[in-house]
Amino acid sequence: STGMTTLDPGFGNTASCSSKITYIDGAAGILRYRGYPIQDLAVGSTFLEVAYLVIYGELPEPGQLKEFSDKLRENADIPAEMGAFLDAMPRNGHPMALLASAANTLSAYYADSVDPSDEAQVELATIRLMAKLPTIAARIYRNSVGAEPIGPDDSLGYVENFIRMTFGDDAAAGELGDLFGKAVDLLLILHADHELNCSTATVRTVGSSQADIFASVAAGINALSGPSHGGANQAVLEMLDEIRESGVTVAEFLERVKAREVRLMGFGHRVYKNFDPRSKEIKVLATQILDRHDDPDELFALALELEAAALADSYFTERKLYPNVDFYTGVIYRAMGFPTNMFTVLFAIGRLPGWVAHYREQLHDPAFRIARPRQHYIGSAERRYPGQG
Ligand code: SDX
Repeated sequence: STGMTTLDPGFGNTASCSSKITYIDGAAGILRYRGYPIQDLAVGSTFLEVAYLVIYGELPEPGQLKEFSDKLRENADIPAEMGAFLDAMPRNGHPMALLASAANTLSAYYADSVDPSDEAQVELATIRLMAKLPTIAARIYRNSVGAEPIGPDDSLGYVENFIRMTFGDDAAAGELGDLFGKAVDLLLILHADHELNCSTATVRTVGSSQADIFASVAAGINALSGPSHGGANQAVLEMLDEIRESGVTVAEFLERVKAREVRLMGFGHRVYKNFDPRSKEIKVLATQILDRHDDPDELFALALELEAAALADSYFTERKLYPNVDFYTGVIYRAMGFPTNMFTVLFAIGRLPGWVAHYREQLHDPAFRIARPRQHYIGSAERRYPGQG
């Protein structure tokens, strides 16, 4: 496209805007980041390289990737007082609520990087957000399980550091071995951006008022937390657990879905009306993980049975309901030892490059203006206050 114009100025840059970041074809099940098919990136790239591509628009040269990686490593730690702030938060609070609060509070600790009109400050804040969100997420998890926090180790890569800060040294040494880190890296790649989804539209909306990037991303984290959006990966596991514990058959459960008593979480999508290409990649990964890791609750087998039964039922195919990105991720996260309430935090860490890229792109859009959706008024016609008319 030749520059960026807002397709529908009435809505500002959120309900329908031009962007160069991600292309989705919902009917054909196509997803590309900056033109590169998700399948290519899933096989050949790393999350850090994909994050660079999504944020800066091009695949990095080796020197650029090293510089990016070094900057993130140098900025991975958080101020001691921020650590104390995190430790003082309610330990049984949902990690997404705590993560959003922490992301928002970064502007209090790093006031030197919040001015959206200053490119250098936006770049510095980008590095700080990318570098510190995994550190914050890991500390929130360690607090929730009563474990001592583990700070970043500057000898480790981005994903390995996050895993070690979360689980300590024994995670990767577990039965999944090197597959553990590769699986997290791939899952983060598959979540890196997704055009104008609910949370990214939220980041654009908040950023369109000239709010800083920390405030905008915090708003995105909150939008992502809902079970209709990123919170679905947690809701899928809760659904599978509930089916298993209640002893209902898959057929009986799907009857409840068709009676609209419950939704089949992890199914359906506003854009993908054929299949979600990410779900295909994740299903393959789940097979690899669960070949190595026993699945005592047999949740993967239950998920496969649920998918097969739904796709054989016209109620779902007529409504173009297929597994989305959230249907199989939870089975993998649980096998890795993440608690259910951390699943959406993993989604947020993956989606961060996308949020940052959209916030930055909007700042450079010549048609940039504040988001201001209009409504269709259906309330009372004018009526006068007693004694005034
Ligand atoms: C993500 O936008 C993105 O790109 C999001 C995302 C990303 O990467 O950012 O891909 C991540 O959020 C994936 C979606 C995760 N959410 C879930 O898995 C929750 C369950 N799914 C739904 O609630 C629903 O499918 C949505 C929210 C995802 C999409 O909602 P839509 O497009 O508004 O669908 P709809 O409500 O218009 O439904 C159309 C029909 C309706 O039936 P009728 O009233 O026409 O008879 O399909 C039915 C719905 O009742 N339906 C479902 C269903 N989803 C839709 N029925 C049962 N189970 C479901 N999951």
